[in-house]
Amino acid sequence: MIRLALTKGRIESEAIALLERAGYDCSDLAEERRGRRLIFRTGGEELEIVLAKAGDVLTYVGHGVCDAGIVGSDTIAEQGSDACVLLDLGIGRCRFALAGKAGQWRGIGHRRLTVASKYPNVTRRWFARRGADVEVVKIEGSVELAPLLGLADAIVDIVETGTTLRENGLEVYEVISDVSARLIFNMASIKLKKAETDELVRRVQVAIGS
Ligand code: PRP
Repeated sequence: MIRLALTKGRIESEAIALLERAGYDCSDLAEERRGRRLIFRTGGEELEIVLAKAGDVLTYVGHGVCDAGIVGSDTIAEQGSDACVLLDLGIGRCRFALAGKAGQWRGIGHRRLTVASKYPNVTRRWFARRGADVEVVKIEGSVELAPLLGLADAIVDIVETGTTLRENGLEVYEVISDVSARLIFNMASIKLKKAETDELVRRVQVAIGS
């Protein structure tokens, strides 16, 4: 059996639908049967699915307590990972963007900017590539609040539909990169459970049509 850590929230329902298309019976994960449980089995017992926060998916797979994981490339870019990233699943598509109050962007310029983000490493790297010295403030929740409250000149965040920005009088200043969910594996699991991991990859590839 393969133990797979699946990111809760944004990509969860699309990931479950993808696993179903790959032929895994995920009815144990259905909302009405789930309650507060965190670990589930697929119908044929091929997968044990662990629901976890994105960053923890990388931790569990990196430490080898989960063989595989489904996690956004945003979290991989921010945290880095020892895991092997095998497939772009093409789900959970969104973009990293620099954003802020509509009509207020004056460019990077010479003034030291304050930028708020849930992704401080991605933010620092992006500005460093432009030779800009910025103060990065780490925010845990709705980062859109930071420019509205006057804490930051801009934010770096993921934008999917753009609704959150729009409804708060903010806009995208610049798109940084595309984001989507990835199928990752623990390095040792790939070797020690070769047949099972190959089978998972093969079935998921068929489901995503690659
Ligand atoms: C993300 C992101 C934005 C929002 C963008 O948060 O931080 O707030 O989604 O989506 P939109 O462009 O479709 O409006 P998420 O909902 O993942 O919640 P989080 O604050 O728990 O990260």
